[in-house]
Amino acid sequence: MMVRGNASRRPAKETWLPAPGLLLLLLALLLPLSAARQDAGADGTPVLLGGGAGRRLKGRFLHINDFHFDPYYKLHSSTEKTAACHRGKGPAGYFGAETSACDSPEHLINATFEWIRTHLRDEIDFVVWAGDSARHDNDEEHPRSDKQVVTQNEFLVSKFRDVFGVRENWEDDDPTNDVSIPIIPTFGNNDVLPHNIFLPGPNPWTNRYLSIWRHFIPEAQRHTFQQGGWFYVEVIPDHLAVISLNTLYFFDSNAAVDGCASRHEPGYEHFDWLRIQLQSLRERGMKAILTGHVPPARVDSKVSWDETCWQKYAQWTQAFRDVLVGSFFGHMNIDHFIIQDSADVDKGMKKGRAVEYPSEDEVVRTASAEDYLLDLREVFQRLPGLDKAREGVDVDEEAKIGGPYAERFAMSFVGASVVPNYFPSLRVYEYNITGLEDLVLPRAVAHPDKLTTPHIPSAQQPLGNSISSSSTPELDLETLNDDPVDEEALIEAYKKKKKQKKGRKKPKTHKFTPPREPPRGTGPGPAYTMQRWALLGYTQYYANLTHMNGDFTMDHEDGEREREEGEKGDAVGVLEVARQGTGDEIEEERWSEGRHGGKTPRHGHGKVRIGKFGYEVEYDTRRDKVYRLEDLTVRSYLGLAGRIAKGKARGWGVRVDEAEGEVEGQEVEEDEGDVESEGKKHKKGKKGKKRKGKKKHKKGKVNDVWMTFVERAFVGALEPDDLEELFDG
Ligand SMILES: *[C@@H]1O[C@H](CO)[C@@H](O)[C@H](O)[C@H]1NC(C)=O
Ligand SMILES: *[C@@H]1O[C@H](CO)[C@@H](O)[C@H](O)[C@H]1NC(C)=O
Ligand SMILES: *[C@@H]1O[C@H](CO)[C@@H](O)[C@H](O)[C@H]1NC(C)=O
Repeated sequence: MMVRGNASRRPAKETWLPAPGLLLLLLALLLPLSAARQDAGADGTPVLLGGGAGRRLKGRFLHINDFHFDPYYKLHSSTEKTAACHRGKGPAGYFGAETSACDSPEHLINATFEWIRTHLRDEIDFVVWAGDSARHDNDEEHPRSDKQVVTQNEFLVSKFRDVFGVRENWEDDDPTNDVSIPIIPTFGNNDVLPHNIFLPGPNPWTNRYLSIWRHFIPEAQRHTFQQGGWFYVEVIPDHLAVISLNTLYFFDSNAAVDGCASRHEPGYEHFDWLRIQLQSLRERGMKAILTGHVPPARVDSKVSWDETCWQKYAQWTQAFRDVLVGSFFGHMNIDHFIIQDSADVDKGMKKGRAVEYPSEDEVVRTASAEDYLLDLREVFQRLPGLDKAREGVDVDEEAKIGGPYAERFAMSFVGASVVPNYFPSLRVYEYNITGLEDLVLPRAVAHPDKLTTPHIPSAQQPLGNSISSSSTPELDLETLNDDPVDEEALIEAYKKKKKQKKGRKKPKTHKFTPPREPPRGTGPGPAYTMQRWALLGYTQYYANLTHMNGDFTMDHEDGEREREEGEKGDAVGVLEVARQGTGDEIEEERWSEGRHGGKTPRHGHGKVRIGKFGYEVEYDTRRDKVYRLEDLTVRSYLGLAGRIAKGKARGWGVRVDEAEGEVEGQEVEEDEGDVESEGKKHKKGKKGKKRKGKKKHKKGKVNDVWMTFVERAFVGALEPDDLEELFDG
């Protein structure tokens, strides 16, 4: 049985627009009128008109990532590492095995797109699709192959095309006008083979994705894309661009490349290109959003990028602070944010001198989500001016954070995943479109050359690498076969090459052209103050698979019994879930069988009684009483980071206003109580009884902002009581 998430079947907690149908009707009535006008917006901005009806700017976009579609997924198979939800008998549910390390079944992918069709399709301006659509290489009996990775990605593209398709254009020979809104994909480390390894371009994968992503890559950018797998789209022509970064060239685990300092590296080329694009956008008065798969994580337990790439990224985001709206990533599977501090950029960088330090011996870091989150908090604790990151502070304090707008810092948003390592999730951002409310865009995207008009000096000299562009191998679907690649051998070869390079003892300095600072008199950009394009907030959605799979109740009635029946004690399950690897390590060291590991579905194997599928609101930053984010500017986030960090942090507490914290805590409890179902409260009480002797949640004493941050990192899939044991110490 296929469940379609339509409006009438929305779960009770759903708080999306009350009547999308009505809204659409209204829009349909309005659009022909506005399309007939040929005039200017409030500030003289020309109104773009498409042929016939256009689409109106909505001021929202979707951020979605890490689908990890797994065609081998089997209902009620085992979630053990050796089975990976492909065989055996176990708890793997109809829509996925939530809280386990298994990948996504087709039912989850389909239901997610049906939900997007019903609830988001006509409400958003573009989609930021941050990579990793293919399954993990998690099963020796089903090794990944080129063909699999390609077909899994093509499947995802077909879903996007289906939901956002402009069918009357499907027959013509312009693939970019097949969809109604821009969709911006980016390479995930599992979207290529061997995973993590991405050679300098052009390579078989850039060639192949040129075809897979033909609807999304503007005609004028195809050449660039083929060279390095990066491109940009003017999502709102002449106003706003989304730049798709190929973060695999920055990724520490990509043994085929070596950072961003040497001009022979594609990472160097990438930043050079990015500098030129951002400068050009600056000159055109445009703004930009950056997106990529692997985020610039840089804490003790997890350093995702090569340091030379991180250095350039931090320098670039600082220099283009007047242009950038925000950066959006995936990969980590946990909902969180990263604050980059420009004070960490090496001194020589401003003068165009990047120092490449010899790397220490390769340390394999398998950070658990738990370690990572604790490290993040430590970073937040070290940030200056934390609690003062709000209006009306004295000048000395502000100097520490880079002036009244905290321009010393930049922000990255990291979305949790569709793959249910916790619960499937997606996110809708709202941004400021003041003065452009009347802008009408063409009904179909279409990326003719003229929309990417600026003459940009080419940064595309052929890369000095072993693959010559004249003999670029093609990944032809016809010739693709299912033979597994000998990943091990390939990786070993790359590693050897890299080690040789890294054998040297002394730091090496590389010259580069540094990005220009904003022109004198330029005000703070949209990441720093409220203005057009500034992010107003986001709504975080999640799909409660425990509820929808219908195999296990976690409710107060028989929840207790099930917890006891499970072969594993619940505490072990929770530890395992919270200690799963992040991103690339999921399939390796840190497997999780999930909260139902070892249990039997209640209606028996193979029998399903699924609930209505739907994503519901987990939290909405505009209404949220815990995060209290007025907007998503860097300064607001600096304040949030401060509130997350304070509380029980040891060896820190100079500026902590504990009293305020306590009051906040109580407010939070009460507000949440109103929103949460009665059942949840009830259960909390019962669990408290069961865990006699263990510390109970003390109202107002624990740092509620930190605990809320952690709860949200795991998309609400772990119970607050369990999280307290792990994180409240
Ligand atoms: C998912 O949707 C596709 C069409 O996009 C369809 O061909 C396929 O059968 C569906 N799969 C399931 C499991 O319903
Ligand atoms: C958007 O920014 C403008 C300033 O440019 C501001 O006046 C307006 O209130 C903002 N809109 C929202 C919804 O905050
Ligand atoms: C998910 O559903 C289960 C089962 O109905 C319920 O016990 C649990 O509280 C729900 N969790 C969330 C975060 O909604």
